Amino acid sequence: MTEKVTLNDATTNSGYDLPLMSGSMGPKVIDIRRLYAETGHFTYDPGFVATASCESKITYIDGDEGVLLHRGYSIDELAEHSDFMEVCYLLLHGELPNRDEKDTFVSNITNHTMIHEQLVQFFRGFRRDAHPMAIMVGVVGALSAFYHDSLDIDDPHHRMIASHRLIAKMPTIAAMAYKYSVGQPFLTPRNDQSYAENFLRMTFGVPAEDWKPNPVLTKAMDRIFILHADHEQNASTSTVRLAGSSGANPFACIAAGIACLWGPSHGGANEAVLNMLDEIGSVDNVAEMLNRAKDKDDPFRLMGFGHRVYKNYDPRAKVMQQTCHEVLDELGVKNEPMLKLAMELEKIALEDSYFVERQLYPNVDFYSGIILKAMGFPTSMFTSIFALARTVGWIAQWNEMVEDPVQKIGRPRQIYTGEGPRKYVPLHQRG
Ligand code: CMC
Repeated sequence: MTEKVTLNDATTNSGYDLPLMSGSMGPKVIDIRRLYAETGHFTYDPGFVATASCESKITYIDGDEGVLLHRGYSIDELAEHSDFMEVCYLLLHGELPNRDEKDTFVSNITNHTMIHEQLVQFFRGFRRDAHPMAIMVGVVGALSAFYHDSLDIDDPHHRMIASHRLIAKMPTIAAMAYKYSVGQPFLTPRNDQSYAENFLRMTFGVPAEDWKPNPVLTKAMDRIFILHADHEQNASTSTVRLAGSSGANPFACIAAGIACLWGPSHGGANEAVLNMLDEIGSVDNVAEMLNRAKDKDDPFRLMGFGHRVYKNYDPRAKVMQQTCHEVLDELGVKNEPMLKLAMELEKIALEDSYFVERQLYPNVDFYSGIILKAMGFPTSMFTSIFALARTVGWIAQWNEMVEDPVQKIGRPRQIYTGEGPRKYVPLHQRG
């Protein structure tokens, strides 16, 4: 028997039964699809705090318990035992690959890492001081003009090639955006290096000398990619799905996701954490900044703290904290003032009643910013790295949406609060 909830409409003294839907885990969901047709009412939910926009088999989050699962596997186990290529395969295909499947997948990605030579010209058109995210929005969107053979979204083979291209080219594009900003020559990808290693070399290497990989940093980079790979229906993923719901091509949809990720409340937060630490300046100013963060008349918020879904420790932040210490130890920069300040801020905020009562814990961006800074990335690259890693999640979610027979073009409703109908007044009669 279908479970239902009854909605009582006091204005008409009538009741409406709304079916309840169940996922494999998580709370039950009220199916309101027939609500408008049957009651003449819409629902109002700014920020979609209580609205499920789709069914998905990819990622499960229990924010109260601090749980994050990809295709059923916990993020802690994936971060400890897996690698980014395996996680990409898992997100895209639903299962961990066997040896042959993994080798084929890695080879497919490796063989798509170069970008079209003409696309290189795009970089030269940007101002020297362009933000890497501005370059990425433009260049990734422009991929749709180059790969006409993978734009038919109804063809699963086209979709898979586009997915591989996006995952493969993103490190090349992100590293080029960095090289352009520092005026160094672009480095081409190398097929004998891993995904993370290639990205680090293309970013920090120069043609004038050999670049030596550091296994601790390569592992940390790979882990950062894993921890950012997907996070169910967050703002940028919902943007990708919404853009894709109109039938737009995958490159355009991912460009839309990158644009959304750029904002400081979302992917821009790791950059904002470092800017905030800069602003705080010294441990002596922490108390004053915490007071500002608590003051409702002050727009200042403690960047890297709080999360829409996690009202417990962000499970990604736990892994990231461990990686953070490994990287700082390896690089011997534990006593660097900004990093010391970050550790002090974390300690004080975790004991402060305002943050404790509101369950505001450090999120993944708090530590990722510190690690990336220690590795030598400029803050302007932080969000690009997030975008690079999240591309697989976006594309897996986009594929799932395209294959879902229930999905329609996304089209929310509104509560109109503007003027009622009125007569047009000719210009000469207006006061
Ligand atoms: N500093 C100070 N107060 C905060 C903060 C913060 N970082 N975050 C939330 N609060 C307060 C907020 O003022 C509210 O207080 P009250 O109940 O007294 O009005 C309460 O905590 C609940 O917050 P909210 O604004 O209702 O929560 P939200 O779900 O709308 O916002 C958030 C979530 C992530 C946008 C917010 O916590 C925030 O702005 N954090 C800083 C930016 C940041 O680190 N973002 C990265 C998120 S993780 C990466 C990702 O997944 O994209």
